[in-house]
Order: sequence, then C-alpha cells, then structure tokens
Amino acid sequence: AQVTVDFQKRKPISSTLMGIFFEDLNYAADGGLYAELIQNRDFEYKLSEKGGNDKSWTATKAWQTTGQAKLTIDSIRPIHYNNSHFAVLTTTQKGDALVAEGYEGIALKAGEAYYLSLFAKNMTGKNSKLSIQLKDASGKVFAVGVVNVKGTIWQKYEISLLVKESTANAELSIVPETAGQYAFDMISLFPKNTFKGRRNGLRADIAQALADLHPRFVRFPGGCVAHGNGLDNIYRWKNTIGKLEERKPMFNLWGYHQSMGIGYGEYFQFCEDIGAQPLPVIAAGVCCQNSSVGGAGQQGGIPMEQMDSYIQDILDLIEWANGDLTTKWGKVRAANGHIKPYNLKYIGIGNEDLITDLFEERFRMIFKAIKAKYPEIIVIGTVGPWSEGTDYVEGWKLANEIAIPMVDEHYYQSPGWFINNQDYYDNYDRSKSKVYLGEYAAHIGGRANNLHTSLVEALHLNSLERNGDVVSMSSYAPLLAKEGHTQWKPDLIFFNNTEVKTTVDYEVQKLYGVHAGESYIASQVELSDMDSYLQKRVSVSVVEDSKTKDLIIKLVNILPTSVDTKLNLKEFDYLPEALKITLTGKLKDTKVLPVESKQSVGSSFYTNLPAHSLTVIRLQRK
Ligand code: AHR
Repeated sequence: AQVTVDFQKRKPISSTLMGIFFEDLNYAADGGLYAELIQNRDFEYKLSEKGGNDKSWTATKAWQTTGQAKLTIDSIRPIHYNNSHFAVLTTTQKGDALVAEGYEGIALKAGEAYYLSLFAKNMTGKNSKLSIQLKDASGKVFAVGVVNVKGTIWQKYEISLLVKESTANAELSIVPETAGQYAFDMISLFPKNTFKGRRNGLRADIAQALADLHPRFVRFPGGCVAHGNGLDNIYRWKNTIGKLEERKPMFNLWGYHQSMGIGYGEYFQFCEDIGAQPLPVIAAGVCCQNSSVGGAGQQGGIPMEQMDSYIQDILDLIEWANGDLTTKWGKVRAANGHIKPYNLKYIGIGNEDLITDLFEERFRMIFKAIKAKYPEIIVIGTVGPWSEGTDYVEGWKLANEIAIPMVDEHYYQSPGWFINNQDYYDNYDRSKSKVYLGEYAAHIGGRANNLHTSLVEALHLNSLERNGDVVSMSSYAPLLAKEGHTQWKPDLIFFNNTEVKTTVDYEVQKLYGVHAGESYIASQVELSDMDSYLQKRVSVSVVEDSKTKDLIIKLVNILPTSVDTKLNLKEFDYLPEALKITLTGKLKDTKVLPVESKQSVGSSFYTNLPAHSLTVIRLQRK
C-alpha cells in the first residue's frame, strides 16, 4: 500500500474527542470504582431493588451475626431522614459479633492502612468498648482496633487499622466487649491508599486505569441511570453531595442499590484529578424511554407544575459547579470542600430518550432556561435511541430547529457495520449541531469483545478523527464491569475485588487518547488491488499534536495478511527515528498488549502493517 500525506490539506479538530462515560452499571460504582469495602453500610438495601426476586436483598444484606447475637433493623431516630434505617445489635454474651462480608469478601493489602468509621450508640446508656477485627473465615486476624462507644446519642467514631498480611477474603467483625444493645449505621472501611489519597475516594487501580486512557472528559452518571426507571428514580444531583449520612441512597435501575457514596462532588473531583472536563448528564424531565413507567397520567414526564423547580435544580447545578463564594450554591460547594469553581463547560440534557411531545416540551423548557441564564454552557441534547434506517430523524429535526450546540448519538453494532459505515459522518452538515458519540462499541456474537471488535473501533476512531470538525466528543460504553455482576456486554474494563482486567478495546481507546491531535492532515491510502472489500479494511488517520507538533499516523489493517506500506510525507521536518506502536494478534484474542519499537522515517519510508493490526507511528519534530 501507499499512504500519501498532504500537509496542505489540514483542518482543526476537536481537542475533546476522546473521553470516557461512567455509569453505575455492572457494579461499576459501589463494589467497584468507589473504594468503600463495606457493602450495604447504610442498611438501606430493599427487596424491591431486586424486584423481590432475591430474598436476601434486604436491609441486612451482607451482614451476619455470630453466637447468640441478634441483628434487627430500626428506623426510629435515624442519623438522618435520608438514611432512615440502622442496625440494632443485641448481644447476651461477650464475644458475639456483627460481621460484614463486604462485596463478596474484603480485599486487604499488607502494610497498608485502612480507615474504619461508624456511627454508633449504646442503647443501654453505658460506655463500652468495641473490638474491631479484620479476619478471615478461618479466624486469621489481619488487623485489630478498638472503638469506645459513649452514650445513647449517635456519634461518629473513626480509627485507623494497619493490615499485616494481604488477603482477598477478609470480613469485618464488630465485637462488643460488654453484652448489651447497640445501634450502628454507616459502617465504613476504606483503604487510605485511594486514588490521589482522597478521603471517600476511588479505588486506586481502577481509577488509574481510567486516568491512563487520558480522557479529555468524563460523562456521568449515565446512561439510563441518569433518567431512571420512573419519576422517583430520576438521578437528582442534590441528593448526592455533602455528608455521606445525609445523601439519599436510591434504587439503581440496573437492579441494585446506589449508595451515592460517589456523588457529584466525587465525580467532579475525579475529573479535576485527571485533567478531564466534567460532563454531567441530567434527565430531560422524563424518565427512561419516557412512555410507560411514570404512572397513570404522567407517562414518565415530570408534571408541568413541578418543571420550574426541576429546572431550578439544573441551574443550581451550574451555580454549584461554577459560582463564586457570593452565590448560594458556590458556598455549598465550598462548604463541601471545594473552594475553587470547577469550570463546568458542558451539560447533557437527556439520554437516549424517545423524541416524543412529552420529551420535547420539557427539553425545550430546560434548554431555553440554561441558554438564558448560562449562554456560555454547551448544552448537549439527545437524538434518541438508535434504530436502523431512521438515523435519529426526530432528534435531529429538533436539534436543527432550536440549534442545540451538540447532540448525543449512541450505537452498539457488529464489526461489519463499523467496516461499512466509515463514511458515517463524512456528509454531516458542518453548519448544524456538533456530535457527541456518547455510547458506542462493536460486539461479536454473544456480545463479546476481542481484537476484532477493537480493530473495527480503531477504524471508526480514524473516521472520527477525520470528522473531528463535526464530531466533538466520543466515549466507548459501558466502561466498567465487575466479574460475576456483568449485566451488559461488551465492556471496556473488567475487574474483581483485587484485579483490573483491561480489554483489547481498552488498549485501542488508550492509544487514541494518548496519541490524540488537534489538527487533522489529509492522507490517502492506495492498495495495489482496488477491490473495495480490501480498501475498506485498511485505514489511515494523520493528526498533529498542537503542543509538541508531533505527527501521529494511525494505520489499521484488518486484512488477514500483512501489508507492506510506503508512506510519503511531502513535508519532512522530523527526527529520523520515530516511535512505532503495534497492536496485533489473532482476531479472537481477548488479551493483546501494544508493543513499542523504533521506526526509521524520512520524507518517504516503509513500514509493515501486520495482519489484524493497529499501528501508531509518532514522529517527533526536529
Ligand atoms: O451503556 C449501557 C446503556 O445503553 C445505557 O445506560 C443507555 O444509555 C444505553 O441504552
């Protein structure tokens, strides 16, 4: 093949093309990215969260007692009305305990410190010691500490525990030294070593894997989680900030519990920590698919008489993120620990909603209000769910009519679709709304992912770079999946309590994130055989990093044979040795890592594209 780069034909492209989309699906938050090790710390699990199917899914889920101790749930005088249930432990003999199993075991690391905190009261009114023990089922002890519980008023107690030996499967025992009756709530155990050492922080290894993608933005909290299953399940940001015990936990429409331990403060902080723009997505006043779940007469839309206050909440979010200390919500942000504004630029309104009258009416109201008060904020609308052949007609009609700055498209497709739709954005009207490709992934049978899916995603990313003047943002979805709790496939990163297992698709996202550019330079690929089947399987994208002026060439070859390729650079002002990164293997491989090597470069040079490969060549300016 021959690739000819035409430096005369260049255009600026989006500097925010590569991002990530976090949704609490597949246990991505509690038991996942959120570093909390105690499951159901708030005793707020409810049978209804599992549709009544899992009889163990109650307020005592993941808790047990030993000996003759009894655990009951009470709700009289809770710590806070948003967290209305708490545990009452009654012991009649010394040594009986309340035991937390964590998320199918508590993983501990040797030599590391852990923060144990709990709210407690001693119902008998006496002072009493609690022995806090991290041990495994065989009784082997990994750390111990003591908490002195004083009196009948809720008080928060905190201690630090140093772990002696690593284990994947500890449990937490709370053992009163005096028999009696104790009330407990918000029993929490965190590693000190969270991502960037933040309190109430994120699991360091998972968060690092996300940071390594070099995302320019993070979308949160969904997906379907953002608009919820029914009006009561719409994600309300105000319920997720401030003291943990005052946050309002909620049913997760993926069939489990959201503790809200990761809330808006934590999402924004994470964005700041990794240098990414926050992209909150708020329900457009309608819940998931807005038609059937809102109850009689509501059809899943917030009643009109409540829309003003709903819109005010959205305006308050912008004030919370960007307002200074003279503003009401800026003060709240500062009181929650973040004095400087976050500099929010984007807000998503709606997620994959059916474009119905119900949706439109509410979307228009929200859009108008944000535009009037915060014209500098880029509102990202939705063009609705994907349906073959309709190309989001209704969504685009609305976007064009009211000039929504950007719209969110979603599609999950087969490799063949990605191969045959490389021109998907080539003819998009550049004068209309920009595109945020908010959810996409390729999947083979059984919705699996492997080198094959990752390479067609690379083909698509080459097309997105080529169309980076109209496609402003993109994010693969879903991002995270816990082994044993995977509800949606494919996913970018799998994990369990101790390991993070990245996919080949992850490697592709990372290569495009790390080697992104802000200037697109036209190029042409010519294969000796002009057969369109072959032509569609070799692709090139050339970008320039505006800071370093490095030239980055990404070449995808999904043919089963290697392709010797001559690259012609008409302008050459680079060091003679470039970095070459190759990702290659068998199409069915699920674990492939990129390999770095050196590539001699000149105004024209040869390289070999292995069968089934992505090659990135990064040329450094002289
Ligand atoms: O990414 C998984 C789900 O797919 C999202 O929650 C939803 O927006 C889409 O249907």
